[in-house]
Amino acid sequence: MCGIIGYIGDRPIIPVLLEGLRRLEYRGYDSAGIVFLEDEEIKIVKTKGKILNLEEKLFNDFPKKAKAPGLGHTRWATHGEPSDENAHPHFDCHKSLALVHNGIIENYYELKTKLIAKGHKFYSATDTEVIVHLIEDFLNQGIPLKEAFFKALKELKGAYAVALIHKENPDFILVGRNQSPVVIGLGQQENFIASDIPALLPFTKEVLFLNDGEVAILSKYQVEIYDLSGNPVARAPYHVTWDIASAEKGGFDHFMLKEIYEQPEAIKNTMLGRIDLDKNQIDFSQEGLDLKFLKGIQRFYIVACGTSYHAGLVAKYLIEKELGLPVEVDIASEFRYRNPILDEKTLFIGISQSGETADTLASLRLAKEKGAKTLSICNVVGSTIARESEVVLYTKAGPEISVASTKAFSTQVLTFILFTFYLKQLLFGENEKKQKIEALIKLSSQLKIFIEKVHPKVKTLAQKWYQAQNALYLGRNILYPIALEGALKLKEISYIHAEGYAAGEMKHGPIALIEEKVPTVILAAKETGIVYEKTLSNAEEVRSRRGPIISLVTEGAKEFQKISDEYIEVPLTFYEFLPIFYVVPLQLLAYEIATLRGCDVDKPRNLAKSVTVE
Ligand code: AGP
Repeated sequence: MCGIIGYIGDRPIIPVLLEGLRRLEYRGYDSAGIVFLEDEEIKIVKTKGKILNLEEKLFNDFPKKAKAPGLGHTRWATHGEPSDENAHPHFDCHKSLALVHNGIIENYYELKTKLIAKGHKFYSATDTEVIVHLIEDFLNQGIPLKEAFFKALKELKGAYAVALIHKENPDFILVGRNQSPVVIGLGQQENFIASDIPALLPFTKEVLFLNDGEVAILSKYQVEIYDLSGNPVARAPYHVTWDIASAEKGGFDHFMLKEIYEQPEAIKNTMLGRIDLDKNQIDFSQEGLDLKFLKGIQRFYIVACGTSYHAGLVAKYLIEKELGLPVEVDIASEFRYRNPILDEKTLFIGISQSGETADTLASLRLAKEKGAKTLSICNVVGSTIARESEVVLYTKAGPEISVASTKAFSTQVLTFILFTFYLKQLLFGENEKKQKIEALIKLSSQLKIFIEKVHPKVKTLAQKWYQAQNALYLGRNILYPIALEGALKLKEISYIHAEGYAAGEMKHGPIALIEEKVPTVILAAKETGIVYEKTLSNAEEVRSRRGPIISLVTEGAKEFQKISDEYIEVPLTFYEFLPIFYVVPLQLLAYEIATLRGCDVDKPRNLAKSVTVE
């Protein structure tokens, strides 16, 4: 939830830290700070508010002699409200140590009490400050810095990615990880650390991933990795294929709009190498998904959070329909504290764009404990959930910077479509119809045309409804999760209270919300068969209570056009592809309404891109 960056080398330290922080700001943005050496002293500059405030403070009194090593941090408060004091970096009693942290130290209070009793002076309300005083305490006992760092980490309970510098040891940065993500960037006579890859791209594409319970010592010339017992760990570098452009706005006003328009490309990339047109087959065998792995699987348990959870709900409709096997879908924060019934006949599927969401990660670990087989669908290569799953199917959406997830969702759904077709082949020897595989190949170009065609219509719609206070989204069958996703998008970036509901459930309560100021967005597709008619009756129920209707319907759906105040036509397609088409106008509607309301679309209030604490 916070973003950390660090550098050791000869480049001017301030620009490196600020560049990295700007690329991490979507992870948290209520306060920020940096630390570097100046005249062999630790110099900290930090402030409440966005990176912009920090830049202002620096440029009003620019530290001309600033030198590496240096660290930076952008915060999303958990302990202690956003303030200058609670901003990171934090330092010890003598300002010789400085530390940045992403995560939550659960036993901080107990440690803090002990340290105060020993005379340590605390000035912030954060859990993080405890770590730097703990290290200081071991130093005071004459224990060398590296050992003191290891010892302190062993005392911590909770999630952390920490980085530390010491004025008396300017030749290295110490980094530790448990649950929270941290990536090391390798350079020529310089090295970097960051919470994720996009922050490193301006400097290097050679990275190393740190696992839980590991420590890295970065000097200008090398990176050493150890486990917490001090044993050296060998780790091969990974070459990142993403480029900087993909982590920048490419001429769009916001990352969210850019990422909506990137969906056709993302869909195409996610299919690449997974469709064998000659054999008219899907192929995941290169990714370890084969009969040997699937042997004995009788049910699926899909677990995720937020938008990824909605992709899981779509998968339930696909898998049950095509494979006739039972699928449970659950919210990770509930799954992990229930007693879910899983065993070796269960395939646990964790879905996560970031691959770092704490509740989904914990659910994966619980599923493993219960003997289930594990597969994950992730977008960030080398992320923890991906590395801890037996099989990982990557969505190839590229970096998703905007907090509101869009292209990750459509590529998650696509991955499930491919997964379902593939299992039909493997388990039942049934290839998908050639026509449908051909339509799959055309999906990307069809979607591109649809986005460009529908956007102007959505813009007009947003003009009419951006002042609404409440909204209802209704859908049935495979469009029910899309109604949930549409409502989530509107909620999270425009702050309008929106509810997604199964249309058939409406008369059991939410129908009471229907009134002239509350727009109801209704999704209906002829490809869903009988439920199309049922949805039409639900629309009638809204109409008869004077509720304004915005319907998203299959081209030529006259019945809906007659009773809707506004309608958006969606091209005819195959049942399986409906979610990918129907979600786009809802993403655009939320985007246009949020911009009209002056909301910070890419960094909506109270939200962060990767939720690494529970
Ligand atoms: C979606 O727009 C939100 N950012 C949020 O609900 C997100 O989907 C959720 O936090 C899960 O994130 P993940 O896919 O990275 O695990």
